[in-house]
Amino acid sequence: MEEQSFAMPRIGDPAPPFKAVTTQGEINFPEQYAGSWVILFSHPADFTPVCTSEFMTFASMEAQFAQANCQLVGLSVDGLYSHIAWLRTIKEKIEYKGMKDVEVRFPLIEDITMEVAKKYGMIQPGESSTKAVRAVFVIDPKGMIRTILYYPLSLGRNFDELYRVVIALQAADAFGIATPADWRPGDDVIVPTAGSCGVAKERMENHELTCHDWFFCTKKITKEQVLDAILKK
Ligand code: BEZ
Repeated sequence: MEEQSFAMPRIGDPAPPFKAVTTQGEINFPEQYAGSWVILFSHPADFTPVCTSEFMTFASMEAQFAQANCQLVGLSVDGLYSHIAWLRTIKEKIEYKGMKDVEVRFPLIEDITMEVAKKYGMIQPGESSTKAVRAVFVIDPKGMIRTILYYPLSLGRNFDELYRVVIALQAADAFGIATPADWRPGDDVIVPTAGSCGVAKERMENHELTCHDWFFCTKKITKEQVLDAILKK
């Protein structure tokens, strides 16, 4: 039988819709998440060590993401009963880096047909044709894909970086700015490049901006301003 191929979703595309069975019941994605940011992420397999360390870390940060109006949704090509048994083992038996008794409350999708994984380009046969790679899709409250990250099977993700991505995207939307390398709330932000010489000249003379050249101006937004605009009270 011929392999069905799917276009890989791209940044700026609407998140491909699907319905799926999860450890928290059925979900209708991304429709039921309208109004929230979502991180849809895949892991290669249940009962594997890198994935276990990732789930414990992500579950421990769930409240932090929720405060930034961001929900988490996991996926692997394992079945529901494997997911349930693995998450129970994590809670009952695994102690890792000071984390223990960790309950994964966010939904974990079963995708034994690989239908969702294929839709999202999570099956990358050069790495594995039977397991999803470690994919991360950051989806905004309008259901648009805003960031995509892919990691190979052997490389556990940095969850502080995923949190930084969500906050930086939200800050960009709230203040109409861009964020420089390694930006964290409280660091100076980038004012979008001027569209004309006149605007560039005005900017160079504006004492509220620091201009390194006509195309590279930054300004201050305090950590409190960023977090006030973003975090739920
Ligand atoms: C892991 O999570 O440890 C893992 C999963 C699949 C392949 C290699 C490592």
